[in-house]
Amino acid sequence: MGFYRPLLCVCVSAILVNATACAGGTPASGAASTVSAADPNAMPPAAGPAVTADNMVKAGEYLTIVGSCNDCHTQGWTERKGNVPPADRFAGLDVGFRGTWGTVYGKNLRTITQRQSEDHWVQVLKTADDGDGKPPMPWWNTALMNERDLRAMYRYIKSLGPNPNGVPRNLKPGVEPKGPWVWVEPKTGAQ
Ligand code: HEC
Repeated sequence: MGFYRPLLCVCVSAILVNATACAGGTPASGAASTVSAADPNAMPPAAGPAVTADNMVKAGEYLTIVGSCNDCHTQGWTERKGNVPPADRFAGLDVGFRGTWGTVYGKNLRTITQRQSEDHWVQVLKTADDGDGKPPMPWWNTALMNERDLRAMYRYIKSLGPNPNGVPRNLKPGVEPKGPWVWVEPKTGAQ
């Protein structure tokens, strides 16, 4: 670890020099590196285990794959063996997940990331939507993810842009869904 420290010091002082140049309002010779230091998608420091990539968007793409997020939020992901272009990912799934809680749908995360703030996204995923979140969304796993990783997924999905695909509304218990659905609670015996 100590080995890397001198390198880190050099980088930090380079950023400081550029920041000073910037504050003066004069375009400095180090302008290019000033831009990269201010890149909104540069990886911020993370406390604890977190994914590392060239930038937050790339980290987010990777995390959504290993986090299985497409399985329930991307139409056709399973049927097409993951062969869905980024433009069609995360626009929601029209197969309902049915249980004693009613029927819930993998939401259109493209719309949600356009409309909601990154902080709200983190809050929802850390708190199972303030305790209101229904299965089978893996709330207990996202609650334990590193906050930087949660933010990276938001940045990636948001970077895909809006997708107006509509997803059915959640239904209360006892209401019959019009489209396809699967029962996702354990059962024993026939049927
Ligand atoms: C097994 C299916 C499944 C998987 C896997 C899954 N989700 Fe979900 N997700 C859902 C369902 C169903 C809902 C709606 C739950 C509800 O309405 O209470 C949901 C809701 C959400 C919401 C809340 C949307 C809102 O209304 O504000 C977010 C954000 C979200 N998922 C992100 C993710 C991310 C990120 C991953 C990957 C780490 C992921 N999901 C993986 C099924 C899934």
